[in-house]
Amino acid sequence: MSNPIRVAVGGVTGWAGGELARGVAHAADMTLVAGLSRGAAGQPLAQLTGHADTPGVAAASIEALGSTPYDVYVEYTKPAIAKHNILQALAHGAHVVVGTSGLTDEDYAEIDAAARKADRGVLACGNFAITVVLLQKFAEMAARHLDHWEIIDYAKAGKVDVPSGTVRELAFRLGEIKAAQQAVPVDQVNGPRETRGATMSGTQVHAVRLPGYQLGVEVIFGAEGQRLHLKHEAGDGSKPYVSGALLAIRKVHTVRGVVRGLDKVMEGI
Ligand SMILES: NC(=O)c1ccc[n+]([C@@H]2O[C@H](COP(=O)([O-])OP(=O)(O)OC[C@H]3O[C@@H](n4cnc5c(N)ncnc54)[C@H](OP(=O)(O)O)[C@@H]3O)[C@@H](O)[C@H]2O)c1
Repeated sequence: MSNPIRVAVGGVTGWAGGELARGVAHAADMTLVAGLSRGAAGQPLAQLTGHADTPGVAAASIEALGSTPYDVYVEYTKPAIAKHNILQALAHGAHVVVGTSGLTDEDYAEIDAAARKADRGVLACGNFAITVVLLQKFAEMAARHLDHWEIIDYAKAGKVDVPSGTVRELAFRLGEIKAAQQAVPVDQVNGPRETRGATMSGTQVHAVRLPGYQLGVEVIFGAEGQRLHLKHEAGDGSKPYVSGALLAIRKVHTVRGVVRGLDKVMEGI
């Protein structure tokens, strides 16, 4: 059997990163060797994960990991620090899995160049949940046959980044197929232009931020006399994201540069 994958998790105490760190610590083919959290710096990872065999302590920053060897860095902190952490991990020689939202297409272009220079892979997944992975595939299928669509991004009231990483990635992927058609171009509407949403990668995107939502995405395709709605809604727990992220950690070494979407490394999808 090959050596376990040495994993560092950025955001090791977070809602998403904490759940993933426990998943990594309990996976037979992985070892959690490092974790980032400013508030928990110095705390044993064994205590944070509840897995006694986990060595090491949490660090306040990626620089504080020093020469600790790790094969894969999982970015699950905050948009403001995400790109910095990813570039540092690539410079360290690691492959990177990105869960954090908020990175732009321009950020990913810069990360892609750094990853190719380092001969490393970056697997960026706006959402690791299987129902989102399927929605992305079904939406791409629909965009090959239909010309008109728009996306609605739903999230909790306090989510600061707009749109979500899930929606950003979906718009990017549909844009790779073609731009959605507009019967009336958004700069020619009669009334406040903002009501038509933001144009992202050729798609109109509308972000809703309200208490009561966790995270959701809906893409609506319209055609003459018919409509198709594809909708995902997340529940409250962070468990649905763990198995997808573990798969990304196992597969990221097979890609080079930035690859966006978990389905790119899933078999049979
Ligand atoms: N791809 C997906 O499937 C998926 C799923 C869920 C969430 N997300 C995204 O993942 C990101 C994290 O979400 P969350 O809900 O887990 O957030 P969260 O609960 O606030 O956790 C953030 C984590 O990052 C750490 N952190 C924040 N700033 C840091 C810094 N400057 N240096 C080091 N550590 C830092 C926090 O610890 P300290 O504050 O102690 O430093 C904490 O451990 C968001 O962008 C979210 O949209 C993606």
